[in-house]
Amino acid sequence: MSSATNKQQMGLADVIAGASGICTVGKTGKGLSYRGYAIEELAAHCCFEEVAFLLIHKKLPNQQELTAYREKLKSQRSLPQTLKNILETLPATAHPMDVLRTACSLLGCLEPEINFSQQTEVADRLLACIPSILLYWHRYHKDGQRINTNTNDDSIASHFLRLLNNTTPKTLHLKTLNASLILYAEHEFNASTFAARVTASTLSDFYSAITSAIGTLRGPLHGGANEAAMALIQGFRSSKDVAPGLTITLANKEKIMGFGHRVYSTSDPRSAIIKHWAKQLIHNPETKCIFEISETIEAFMWKEKNLFPNLDFYSASAYHFMNIPVSLYTPLFVCSRIAGWAAHIIEQRDNNTLIRPTAKYTGPKQQNIIPIMQRNVQRNVQRK
Ligand code: COA
Repeated sequence: MSSATNKQQMGLADVIAGASGICTVGKTGKGLSYRGYAIEELAAHCCFEEVAFLLIHKKLPNQQELTAYREKLKSQRSLPQTLKNILETLPATAHPMDVLRTACSLLGCLEPEINFSQQTEVADRLLACIPSILLYWHRYHKDGQRINTNTNDDSIASHFLRLLNNTTPKTLHLKTLNASLILYAEHEFNASTFAARVTASTLSDFYSAITSAIGTLRGPLHGGANEAAMALIQGFRSSKDVAPGLTITLANKEKIMGFGHRVYSTSDPRSAIIKHWAKQLIHNPETKCIFEISETIEAFMWKEKNLFPNLDFYSASAYHFMNIPVSLYTPLFVCSRIAGWAAHIIEQRDNNTLIRPTAKYTGPKQQNIIPIMQRNVQRNVQRK
């Protein structure tokens, strides 16, 4: 076996680790689709709640079902007092992903999933209340405000932006966030979804599976890339600085965050969609400059490394142009991906097999135990 093959198998690249009817992840000829619907069409014609319904409840809702679903989500935005107390106690300096991971786990104690027949109820509850959790903690520590999370907004995008800014969101911001939530909602056996499925495969509860997923999404090679991409972009004062700066970064063998993908080889179909929205949001010289720098990075990475921006790269600019704080970028990913994780937990449970692969052993050969007293003697002799 060549070392290249070994390396790929170590990361499970190209390994079929299970069957799924949820998402095609850009497989040749199929493009990226959720339950057979192309991502381009979903992003152009649907609201995020329709897509969440499609993922969790397995079909696109009709108008009546969508209205009822939105009302249901609206009714589940409030937080138990115990959870609010804990959110207030968590440090203001905590990363919001740590806050979400903790809060999700805590909710599993307060509103436990007693049996699997409650799974879609738990999924909808998490979808409805994760933005409330995030922004209750954020506003309490940023503004000292105990916000009322029971907004009357029809959409999760609007609920999120209203809680964040305490104002009625702009239409363009709503459209952009809606598209972004759709693009982030699902992506087959990515690391966090796989973590959720592994946890679910032990027949553990829904909250445990989602908590595993949040912890996995947090890393910069996965969801954390959108925050790292913003840091990269903001590190350049103008597009002229890009080529010299990135040349050094690449020479140091450092990764450029927001570029490349394990599955895609020439482009990420979600990138063009979010780039379109980011471009619409340019409204002053600063945002124009950020966008120019971003396009220069894109061109440089393609020319030098044949690498293309993934969803995280232009999402960072879109969120920045909407004045969303950088630390909330990855948590926003959670607000959306809850729908995909839920779909996968449900699918895993529908036809469960414990996920437990094997490893190639690379440790020492079989050894005999030396009694502890003799080990100490040996060590003393070695020291002398
Ligand atoms: N910047 C620079 N080089 C990159 C790169 C990036 N973003 N992504 C991949 N490469 C290079 C690697 O250095 C490696 O080069 P080498 O063969 O000369 O060592 C080669 O491409 C393969 O990279 P590898 O990390 O092994 O591929 P992967 O399939 O495991 O990686 C990612 C996929 C997403 C982890 C990787 O592209 C990455 O780290 N991207 C940045 C983080 C990111 O944006 N994550 C969000 C993904 S949606």
